Amino acid sequence: MILEGKRLVITGVITKDSIAFHAAARALEEGASVVLTSFGRVRRMTERAAARLPSEVDVLELDVNKPDDLSALTGSLRDRWGGVDGVLHAIAFAPEDALGGRFMTTPPESAAAAFQTSAFSLKALAAAVEPLMDGGGSVVGMDFDATVAWPIYDWMGVAKAALESVSRYLARDLGPRGVRVNLVSAGPLGTVAARGIPGFEQLADLWRVQAPLGWDIEDPSPVGDAIAFLLSDLSSGISGEVIHVDGGFHAMGTDLD
Ligand SMILES: NC(=O)c1ccc[n+]([C@@H]2O[C@H](COP(=O)([O-])OP(=O)(O)OC[C@H]3O[C@@H](n4cnc5c(N)ncnc54)[C@H](O)[C@@H]3O)[C@@H](O)[C@H]2O)c1
Repeated sequence: MILEGKRLVITGVITKDSIAFHAAARALEEGASVVLTSFGRVRRMTERAAARLPSEVDVLELDVNKPDDLSALTGSLRDRWGGVDGVLHAIAFAPEDALGGRFMTTPPESAAAAFQTSAFSLKALAAAVEPLMDGGGSVVGMDFDATVAWPIYDWMGVAKAALESVSRYLARDLGPRGVRVNLVSAGPLGTVAARGIPGFEQLADLWRVQAPLGWDIEDPSPVGDAIAFLLSDLSSGISGEVIHVDGGFHAMGTDLD
């Protein structure tokens, strides 16, 4: 069991389709202790999803944009475990007018909101847990390849480019404490966040013709597996990396037909 004895914080579970749900399930199967986070009015949904995990887990309050929630999280984890070994950041949000083909008319406030919740928050979350990682640790975030422009992804794409950069700076600053920081760049999956993007099917269709391994938008388990690897000691020499779990899509220049 590759996560035996690991104490892990997993954000971003809202339904059983959430990528983070599959990461949590895999982590529990691999022997980890897990707490989830959620916030405000979606907390009930997280608790319902949590009940479907292989063992019981607690849900702590965290709106990643609220400094008070972040400091309460640090205190609560210290009381519970005394330390933390890993954290999954599976959080993204962009206002409706920042997505769906409205790139040229998005107001700056909406672009900034996407940046804060989807990119800056990786630093905010890492800063909250890093003081508890005395024996080193692993921070994992979720990416959608931001080295290129996509249809409809718009300011969320820009936020993901920022997230890629934030993870490198975190890798620089936390590495000397033995904390590694990596991203998983996933192919499209039919989660709440993804289906909320107008035109999501358009993106998913690209994978049908360009992923050499094939890609099932209903199956986040390969992504959960890679997250488990990055949270485990098997990835002890990896930091500042982006691992693509996308059926090989990113390595192809065009569709395969
Ligand atoms: N689904 C995809 O196609 C896909 C592909 C690549 C990367 N990702 C990324 O994976 C991550 C998880 O998304 P998902 O697809 O599982 O969708 P999801 O809707 O299941 O999860 C998104 C989560 O973000 C949380 N969140 C939003 N604002 C927050 C805040 N202020 N504080 C704390 N939590 C907040 C939501 O509560 C939710 O749990 C995101 O970073 C997303 O961009 C998704």
